[in-house]
Amino acid sequence: MPILNIGHRGAKGHVTENTLASFARALTLGAKAIELDVHACATGELVVIHDFTVDRVTNGTGEVHKLTLAELKSLTVTGGHSIPTLDEVFETVGKNCFVNIEMKGRHTAQPVSNFIERYVAEKGYTYKDFIVSSFQREELENMSRINPKVPLGILTQASIHQAWEWAEAFNAVALHPHFSLLTESSVLKAQQAGYKVYPWTVNEPEDIARVKALGVDGIITDYPDRI
Ligand code: G3P
Ligand code: CA
Repeated sequence: MPILNIGHRGAKGHVTENTLASFARALTLGAKAIELDVHACATGELVVIHDFTVDRVTNGTGEVHKLTLAELKSLTVTGGHSIPTLDEVFETVGKNCFVNIEMKGRHTAQPVSNFIERYVAEKGYTYKDFIVSSFQREELENMSRINPKVPLGILTQASIHQAWEWAEAFNAVALHPHFSLLTESSVLKAQQAGYKVYPWTVNEPEDIARVKALGVDGIITDYPDRI
């Protein structure tokens, strides 16, 4: 199996993160998958933005979960973009793109489950077209309870051991460790236990070469052109 090229927040190294233009660029640069961050806004829609506030990437201020979709849509994202909904991202990347939805905001498990169920029931998707990841134990646990069919990935910044424990607890299909945590034996052990290994965020050529040599299943990168 070729290593899956996963564009981090689209092609963050080239175009403003988590914008439709960034996701489209990731695909033109060779990504076969994208990673994105979701929050539920005040009116319930899933919106694609990394931070819990709009302050860093837009001309507005405030917490994403307290703003309505109309308020979020009135903001300008750096570079002249707007904050996309999750539906708009799927319209942009099309059906052949594997999507890693990171549940960044709180209370996202239920709406993400509803979203995926709708795409499976109405739009010809299968559960295998998605992987849903999170650093947050509560969202992972909720998703595993609400809809065990949704493939889960466990994000970790600091501990493969903890990711492993959560993966077992929530029946995950993949570990998503920071790339610096990986060793040959940890990758092998994870894969022998049936987990995919998708490290992030691997940008420098020497780091890309190292994780490739470790035999990971995919690489989450700001530069899909470097994979
Ligand atoms: O999903 C991998 C990576 O995106 C996790 O960290 O902070 O970029 O969302 P962050
Ligand atoms: Ca992310």
